[in-house]
Amino acid sequence: MKLSSRIDKIPPYIFNEIDILKSKLHNPVDFGIGDPDLSTPDFIVNEAIKKIKDPKNHSYPSYSGMFQLREAISKYFYKRFGVKLNPDKEIIVLIGSKEGIAHSLQSLIDTNDRVLVPAISYPIYRVQTSLWGGKIDEFDIGFENQFIPSISDIEKKINKKTKILFLNYPNNPTGAIVPLSFYKKCVDLAKKHDLIIINDAVYTDIHHNKTLPPSLLQADKKKQLSLEFHSFSKTFNMTGWRIGFAVGNRTLIDGLKKIKMNTDSGVFNAIQFAAIKALKNSDKHIQTLNSRISARIDLLSNALYDMGFEFNKPQATFYIFAKTKNSMRSMEFSKHLMNKAGIITAPGIGFGKKGDSYIRFSVTLPEKEIERGIKKMYKAGI
Ligand SMILES: Cc1ncc(COP(=O)(O)O)c(C=O)c1O
Repeated sequence: MKLSSRIDKIPPYIFNEIDILKSKLHNPVDFGIGDPDLSTPDFIVNEAIKKIKDPKNHSYPSYSGMFQLREAISKYFYKRFGVKLNPDKEIIVLIGSKEGIAHSLQSLIDTNDRVLVPAISYPIYRVQTSLWGGKIDEFDIGFENQFIPSISDIEKKINKKTKILFLNYPNNPTGAIVPLSFYKKCVDLAKKHDLIIINDAVYTDIHHNKTLPPSLLQADKKKQLSLEFHSFSKTFNMTGWRIGFAVGNRTLIDGLKKIKMNTDSGVFNAIQFAAIKALKNSDKHIQTLNSRISARIDLLSNALYDMGFEFNKPQATFYIFAKTKNSMRSMEFSKHLMNKAGIITAPGIGFGKKGDSYIRFSVTLPEKEIERGIKKMYKAGI
C-alpha cells in the first residue's frame, strides 16, 4: 500500500521523545501544553445546553456560519478594532482557526508558489504550505527587536514567485505583539510586491498590558489583500469546541469557502449560538481571564529571571519563550529540565530551526502547579 507522495512532506512529530519521557515521570509539572486549564465560562456552556435541546439545531449548519454569528462577529470587530465588516462577504465561521489556515492555503497555493513564513512559528504554516506544493522562505523575527521582524529583512526574501506573507501577532511562541505601524508597513510592502498577507491573530484578546493588540485589518481597512484568523479557543477556553473565524478580503474568503463547501459541513449550530453568547458578553470575561493569566506570567517570569533565564517578557498570549542555558540545544535542555527538575517544557525546535536555542513555558496550569514547578526548578539548581 502506498500513501500519496504529499504525505512524505509532513515532518515527523517532534514531541514524540518528550511524550515518551513524560509518561515515565512521576507527577511532573507540565508547562508544555498551550491548552487552557480553565473551563469554558458557565454562560457559554449554558447557552450551548439550551440550544442543543432544540431539534432545529440538529441539521447541517450553513457553510459560512450562521448569519446571526457573522453579525455578532462584525459588531465585535467594529467595537474592538474600529473596522467594518460585511457579514455576508468578509466573514466566514471555521471549525477552529487551524482548519481555516490549512484550507486557505489549499485555496491559494499553486506548485512552487513561495510563501514567507516567520523563522520561528506555529508549525502548521510550514507543513500546510509544503503539502500544497508551495515553497517556504523564512524571515528572522529576532530576539533583540522584541521578536518583531524588520521590513527590509522580509523584503530581501521576496522574489517573483512570492505570493503570501504569513504573520502571527500576538505571537506563539514568543508572546510578542506589534504596533499598528508595523502592519501598515507590511501592507505597503504587500502592495508594492503584489502579496497576500495572512495574519494568525488567535491570541488577540489575551494580553498583559493596557495596549490592545491591533488587527491587520486596521492597516488595510478596504481589505485589499488581508486575511486574518481569529478563534474562540484561547479567548474563551473553548479549544475542544472547535470554533473560530476568518475575516478579510472577499475573494480570499470566497476561496476558503469553496474549499470548505467541498470538505466539511460547518460548525454545529448549538456551538455557534454559544459563540454568539460569548462575543456578546466578552468584555467582563476577557478582563477576568487576562488578569489571571497576567498574574501567572508575572509569577513565572519573576522566578525565571531570578534563576538567570533570558527572555523578552511576553506582552500577550500565555507563553514565555526563554533562551536555553549553557548554549544547550532545545531538545537537550527540555530533557535536562525533565530529568533534573521533573518539569515539562516545549523545545523551541518544534517552531523551526531558529527556535533551537529556546524553550517555551506555557502558564496554562493552576497557580499552585506553577509554584510547585518553580520550587522544583530551584531545588534542582536550574
Ligand atoms: C498560533 C496558533 N494559531 C492557531 C492555533 C489553532 O487554534 P484553533 O483552536 O482555533 O484551531 C493555535 C493553537 O495552539 C496557535 O497557537
